[in-house]
Amino acid sequence: MNQPLKIGHRGAKGYVAENTLESIQKALDLGVDGIEIDVHLCQTGELVVYHDFTLERLTDGTGEIAMKSLEELKALKIVGQFKIPTLLEVLDLIDKKCMLNIELKGEGTAFEACKSIQLYTETKDWKIDDFIVSSFNHDELKSVYNINKNIPLAVLTESDIESATSFAESIKAKAIHPHCFLLDQSTVQQLQESGYKVNTWTVNDIEAIALMKTYGVDGIISDYPDRL
Ligand code: G3P
Ligand code: CA
Repeated sequence: MNQPLKIGHRGAKGYVAENTLESIQKALDLGVDGIEIDVHLCQTGELVVYHDFTLERLTDGTGEIAMKSLEELKALKIVGQFKIPTLLEVLDLIDKKCMLNIELKGEGTAFEACKSIQLYTETKDWKIDDFIVSSFNHDELKSVYNINKNIPLAVLTESDIESATSFAESIKAKAIHPHCFLLDQSTVQQLQESGYKVNTWTVNDIEAIALMKTYGVDGIISDYPDRL
């Protein structure tokens, strides 16, 4: 049985504050095959790496991330010690050491994500297959597909695999990213027979990881990628 790809969730969220350069470095140190991050567009047009739509949970700031300039966001501290990184800073840190799964979390993120992917494939030797762009937001995925048909796409779902696959067909997605609770052996097999990779999330528990491996998933996204 092939080993599934080890993908660090928001870097290595179980060890270092999520979606920070330090968390991403920790994931690299743990020898991941890939890293998943979340991106939002900030008010000045840069893509920043952060999960929530608002700043309260993890920073000393308040309000919507989309309404803040990059300068304002850079002045904030995540859990008192880290900074919010830009997508470009993350790309420079990873520097092709592993695959990058960019989850388009915020509205209007598709265009900038495509631009960054194009820049790094054209000028920094990244391969298009070093990227997977995923989202729950079908409009963002459709926009990526319309801008650049070569970018590998994945449809995220936490509720309905059938609607994910019917949408996936329309954008020629390479992968389905289902919540692990949606999976069983035959669902994984059917998805793979239909030509999709199956990368599941967020699997932290040792028994759950072992179960996903028996299903033969292609990748596991975990806060503790060293457990995979
Ligand atoms: O990409 C997998 C997973 O990160 C999706 O859910 O809420 O952790 O971004 P969330
Ligand atoms: Ca995510």
